[in-house]
Amino acid sequence: MTTQTPRTLGTTGPQVSPLGLGCMGMSALYGHADRTESIATIHAALEAGVTLLDTGDFYGMGHNEMLIGEALRSAPAARREQALTSVKFGALRGPDGSWIGYDGRPAAVKNFAAYSLQRLGVDHIDVYRIARLDPDVPIEETVGAISELIEQGYVRHVGLSEVGAETIRRAAAVAPIADLQIEYSLISRGIEESILPTTRELGISVTAYGVLSRGLISGHLGRDRQFAADDFRQHSPRFQGENLRHNLDLVEALRKIAEQKGVSVAQLAIAWVLSRGDDIVPLIGARSRERLAESLGALDVVLDAADLAVIEEAVPAGAAAGERYAAAQMAHLDSER
Ligand SMILES: NC(=O)c1ccc[n+]([C@@H]2O[C@H](COP(=O)([O-])OP(=O)(O)OC[C@H]3O[C@@H](n4cnc5c(N)ncnc54)[C@H](OP(=O)(O)O)[C@@H]3O)[C@@H](O)[C@H]2O)c1
Repeated sequence: MTTQTPRTLGTTGPQVSPLGLGCMGMSALYGHADRTESIATIHAALEAGVTLLDTGDFYGMGHNEMLIGEALRSAPAARREQALTSVKFGALRGPDGSWIGYDGRPAAVKNFAAYSLQRLGVDHIDVYRIARLDPDVPIEETVGAISELIEQGYVRHVGLSEVGAETIRRAAAVAPIADLQIEYSLISRGIEESILPTTRELGISVTAYGVLSRGLISGHLGRDRQFAADDFRQHSPRFQGENLRHNLDLVEALRKIAEQKGVSVAQLAIAWVLSRGDDIVPLIGARSRERLAESLGALDVVLDAADLAVIEEAVPAGAAAGERYAAAQMAHLDSER
């Protein structure tokens, strides 16, 4: 199997392109995004054979789903039909954009789905998942509600997001799970200890986000980059002061390896995640056709054992300075318990 070969989500999930397109940054969290360019990027991705589009109903409070809906409506029919939607729900937002909790109650799940179908303009969602475990609702109840939506034809597959091994097992006992969406990159390797062995044992795939650590290891982030107050990175430990300096030194070490291979840093970082196994599908956060083209170039990068050893030496597990989320957000991660 090559990095170009489609990958299957879980044992019962859909076949998807080896890279998915994560659309979050087109609506929120990474500063201004250009709407026309965002839609052109989705069209270019579909044209290039990307089939998996990832979103969350809370990305821009519905904005991201409406954007994807518009892109799907204006895409050629053949491209629209190949697109698979992966939707997260459950995060609650205030009118000012504040994050005010999670809701995984069965009635809420069905309500979220009804709105998502409308905003996306589709008759079903391909993979549906709660973004964070609701500590007040057993995962069995949330997954049970998605299973009912599957029986009714509104959803095709159950996914999970940022949950740990025990929750994965409990969820998988209720319904087949297509994939766990979770952060995984050269500098976020926490899943290797117990989560990845669990998904592999249970036949669940991983859709990996943060493959470029939100641009930190893309090779494009300058040392003097300023972020707006509502940019995720303004509050992310890895982007602060001494941590940022240390992490960008790691990027320079990667740049030397990338240059020797004639590829970009971003391509090397994405290719590394692709090389971890056919059960892993990186989600690319490209917001422009230029970044998309660069990301897709990773599919042509072959990393042999010698390359992997050099990369490991330059950026060993745990090399990053700073946690992947601020403390308040870490507290919501069942995957970090
Ligand atoms: N389940 C969850 O909890 C969760 C959490 C976060 C994200 N996600 C999903 O994962 C998707 C990916 O997001 P991410 O934050 O993980 O993305 P990422 O790929 O780690 O980072 C995306 C950032 O990298 C920069 N970048 C530089 N070069 C790039 C290139 N060649 N290709 C793509 N981006 C490049 C982009 O900035 P510029 O555009 O300014 O260059 C963008 O801001 C999201 O869209 C979302 O669907 C899921």
